[in-house]
Order: sequence, then structure tokens, then C-alpha cells
Amino acid sequence: MGWKAMANIVIVGTQWGDEGKGKIVDLLSDSADLIVRFQGGHNAGHTIVIGQEKFILHLIPSGILHPEKRCVIGNGVVVDPAALIEERAALEARGIQVRGRLSVSERAHLIMPYHRAIEKGSEKLKGARRIGTTGRGIGPAYADKMARIGIRMVDLLNPDLFRQKLAQNLSEINYFLEKLYKAKRIELEAVLKEYLAYGDQLKDCITDTSHLIHQAIEEGKHILFEGAQGTHLDVDHGTYPYVTSSSATAGGACTGTGIGPTRIHGVLGIAKAYTTRVGSGPFPTELNDEMGCKLQEKGKEFGATTGRPRRCGWFDAVLVRTAARINGLTSLAVTKLDVLDECPEVKLGIGYRLGRQTLKEMPSDIEKLERCVPIYETLPGWLQPTSGITTYAKLPAPAQNYLNRLSELTKTRIDLISTGSKRSETILLRNLFA
Ligand code: GDP
Ligand code: IMO
Ligand code: MG
Repeated sequence: MGWKAMANIVIVGTQWGDEGKGKIVDLLSDSADLIVRFQGGHNAGHTIVIGQEKFILHLIPSGILHPEKRCVIGNGVVVDPAALIEERAALEARGIQVRGRLSVSERAHLIMPYHRAIEKGSEKLKGARRIGTTGRGIGPAYADKMARIGIRMVDLLNPDLFRQKLAQNLSEINYFLEKLYKAKRIELEAVLKEYLAYGDQLKDCITDTSHLIHQAIEEGKHILFEGAQGTHLDVDHGTYPYVTSSSATAGGACTGTGIGPTRIHGVLGIAKAYTTRVGSGPFPTELNDEMGCKLQEKGKEFGATTGRPRRCGWFDAVLVRTAARINGLTSLAVTKLDVLDECPEVKLGIGYRLGRQTLKEMPSDIEKLERCVPIYETLPGWLQPTSGITTYAKLPAPAQNYLNRLSELTKTRIDLISTGSKRSETILLRNLFA
């Protein structure tokens, strides 16, 4: 299928997050009408640079910076209402109107104060095997959703039911907090008061967003579904248990918004020209040497949410080829090519060695993946600046060669190349919405 017919596009990360989704979603929002987040929460950090201004969005879709576009937080997202109110206020203080343009699903689950407390206690107990989470309460909030004891946005508007659910939950949770985690118990009245006040501040934007999205589809509008995290942080398809707790892959766009797969026309995978990862977990092409430090420094690889340094390594084609398969990618956007400008040579991971075996796929067994040693193909670097280049023909030949090989190895065409953090620093090979 050509992009011409594509009205609704899902954007997903193909690695372990921070691929530059925010920049690309902001860029493509220009041609979209509605921008929808479908999973994750304020563990995400999506950076958008406009002129001299930098915005980091956590919960609110990256389309919000286009004044005439509408944004939706879908049912698959977990919402910390305090974080949402704070993000909205911070944007409005900078002159970005959010009220009236942002709708939040009634069915989205709430992150409660006890979710953060449980996560803190649980990470501490895990010791060396801790996940290295963002500490935002994401995992416990999704766990409650699946255990059918979650509290949802819509409950904020029904004080009696909210009290009842909260009281029931606290009767169990306080036991664990005090006895297992040696943490402070959580008081019902305080949380109730706090959350009902949030409900009051958010009531105007809480709605049945599935209907809103359907209506946009019927009117022939263009919709961008903005993924957070990345394919290998997906709870099913990622490097479990070192993952986040949601469906960060393309399928999540359906379950996380309430629209069917037949309404999606394309899936754009965002891939950094090298690889990064924050938190614990296997990372075969990680570089623990000077080159790793150089990538971290040149790529400014520090978490947009927690400020933690991101682990850096060469591009792993196995990772992105897997992402192409899991997401059914129609094409790739390769970001941060400019970060490799000063490398005398560049490497692409093409497979793994595990003892005497050669692997072309990632093993599901995490202990095996931890022992995988990458097999590299080495290509000449370009040693010329590519930052800010906007046409493919102007890229140095070795950079074109690198991209061609990356595309071959991942079995996915490249439609967009990013050469800097600004909107203009982009090579668009195809008009994605046409
Ligand atoms: P996201 O979570 O996928 O949205 O990505 P983040 O915002 O966490 O991290 C990507 C970082 O790279 C941000 O600081 C962006 O401003 C920056 N960035 C995006 N594209 C490019 C690029 O092509 N070149 C450079 N040098 N930086 C980029
Ligand atoms: P964006 O959308 C990178 C990582 C955490 C940790 C694991 C689980 O900006 O790409 P969680 O708090 O979600 O339970 O943590 O997932 N993680 C991310 N890493 N980018 C993100 O989001 C991330 N969101 C979560 O570091 O390893
Ligand atoms: Mg990020």
C-alpha cells in the first residue's frame, strides 16, 4: 500500500525508547488533525525543539505544539492526574493553549500514590535484579488494571464510587506497604481529597475518546497515534522482565484507543542511527569504552524524564528487524545520523554469537540474550558534518551507504532521516500523508 491512501499512521519506537519519536510526531502533526497517545504514562519524555525553545512532553501528545490540532490521551495510557495538571499548566504558562484541545479517556487508569510507594519498595527488594524504572508508578498501575482493581478517570467524577474503590484497595495495600515494604501507610481521606480536587480540575477534558476518534475517522481526518517507549520495552515483545508494563508496539494503538486494526494504514518505526537504553537489562551492542562515551556526549544522551545517563552502543539491526516484524512497519525514520559524523568507522550489529552458535534472532531467554556477543559489519565513516542537511543528495556517500545497508539489514525502507533536533533538520524522502 502506498502512503497516498494513508490517513491514520502509528508511530512506534523500534529500540529501547528515546529514538526521537517526539520530534517526528511534532513534525508530522503538521499534516495530521488528531494526535493520540495510546499507552505508557509520564515515564515517557518526548523532546521537541522549536527555534531556541525546547519542550519536554511526558503525557500530553507531541501534537499539542501545533495550535490548531486536537490531542487525545487514550484509554491505554495510565494517568497521574497531578502530573497531567502540572504539564498542562507549564505549557499554558509558555503560551500553548491546552484546555479545549486535549481530551482524556474516561477509561484511562489512574496512577495512585500507592503505586509509586509499591514500585519503590519492590525495586529496593529486587536489589541487583531491579528494573531501573522511572519511579512513576507505571508498573503497579498497570498491574492493578489487569487485576481489575484499578481506579479510572471516570471514577474521579463519581465521589462515592471513588471512595468505595479506594477504601477497598487501601485495606489490602496498606498491609503490604507496612509489613512487606516497611513503608508509611496511605490515608484514605487525604488521597480522596487530593484526587477529587484533581477531578474537578480535569472534568472538562474527561470523555469517551473512542467516540471522538471514530468521529474524526468518519470525517476523513488524519490521525497520528504516538507511541511511547519502544518495541523492546513492550511487555509482550520486549526484553522481559526489563521492559515497561504496556503494549508499546503498534497493536497497542488499537487496544489503547478503541479503534480497529482496519482503521490503521501505516506504521512508521523510529530508529536512532545507533542504540541507547536507560535502566537495566541486556544490550548486546552496548559500548563500555571511549566510543560509548563519545556517542553519549555528542548525542546528549541523558534521560528526558529522569536525567539518567543513557547507555550507548552501535546500531543493532537484529533489534530493528525484529521491530519491523512485530509492528508490521511500513517504513523507518532514522534519527540522529549527525551524531555519527565524527566516527572514523561505523558498525552495524548483524547477528549474535552465543557460545558456538550464530543467532540471527533475539533469544526469548533473557539469560541467553545477556550472553550474546554481537557480530558486526564495519563500514567507513564520513567524517563530515551532516547536521542540518535537508536533502538526501547532499549526504556524504559513506553516510548514504550506511543508511542503505541499515535499510537492507532491517528489511525496511527509509522514508525520513533526521539530522538534528529541530523541525527543519530533516530529510523527507516521501510525503507520509501525501
Ligand atoms: P523520544 O522519547 O523518542 O521522543 O526521544 P527523546 O526526546 O527522549 O530523545 C531524543 C533526543 O534527541 C532529544 O533530545 C531530541 O531533541 C534529540 N534529537 C532528535 N532527533 C535528533 C537528530 O536527528 N539529531 C540530534 N543531534 N538530536 C536529535
Ligand atoms: P520514551 O517514550 C526510555 C524504561 C525505564 C526502565 C523500564 C521500565 O521517552 O521513549 P517504567 O518506569 O516504565 O516501569 O520503567 O523502561 N523506560 C524508558 N526508557 N524511554 C522511555 O520513554 C522510557 N519509559 C520507560 O528506564 O528501564
Ligand atoms: Mg524519551
